[in-house]
Amino acid sequence: MSALMKAEVLDRAAAQAMDRYVIVKSTIYTSGERDPRKPPEYPDTKDKLHLMHHDPRLPRMPDKPTLFDFFRLRFGPSIHMLQSARLAQKNGCSEKIILACLIHDIATGGFIRADHGYWAAQMLEPYVDEEVTFAVRYHQVLRFYPDESYGYKYPESYIRLFGPDYKPEPYLDRAHDHARKHKYYEAARLLTVNDLYAFDPDVHVELEEFTDIVGRHFRQPKEGLGFDDSPTAHMWRTVNWPTRYL
Ligand SMILES: [Fe+2]
Ligand SMILES: [Fe+2]
Repeated sequence: MSALMKAEVLDRAAAQAMDRYVIVKSTIYTSGERDPRKPPEYPDTKDKLHLMHHDPRLPRMPDKPTLFDFFRLRFGPSIHMLQSARLAQKNGCSEKIILACLIHDIATGGFIRADHGYWAAQMLEPYVDEEVTFAVRYHQVLRFYPDESYGYKYPESYIRLFGPDYKPEPYLDRAHDHARKHKYYEAARLLTVNDLYAFDPDVHVELEEFTDIVGRHFRQPKEGLGFDDSPTAHMWRTVNWPTRYL
């Protein structure tokens, strides 16, 4: 069968599957576009089942997904994180900081944007050293606060994105104060220093360049992410199967 025919067969199978299932979006997908106080708009459910597993519109994940499977099939594009990891490597950072750079924005890339550092750190907690999760959690906070001793200035891009009058919320001020006094402050600060957008748009970085670092510092569960019964396995399952009814 040619590649084109295969693609057509797959498309047809996905379309048939979609005819069988009802997909009701989680409130967080729609809140703001619709008033969350109102009952959800239910699609026509006659003769249909509610989706409880893989979403046929998405590329199917392996049964025992690895971090890299999530990068390839659920996060992305990941150029920013890859470039950030490459920059940390060039700047002579430790392997833990390079790993932190590689995974720091997985929440914006594949889960939830708001408070992305906190979400990503939580997802990662069972699998990496606490220095890495501290860096991932607090990079989001420290990005708003300059530290001249590391040559880190308030990002120009934030003035463009949020306007010149934007002031971080009080919870961010408190988190910044906490991070400053923490033993892992430097890890989080180094992440912000290497967290640069398009520092070189011509630099092409492959995920595989970080295979060894991930192998040494990310405890990939043998059951696959989402199926190892860790305290955050449910978050990985939700990224894998985001549209299940329950
Ligand atoms: Fe970030
Ligand atoms: Fe980033």
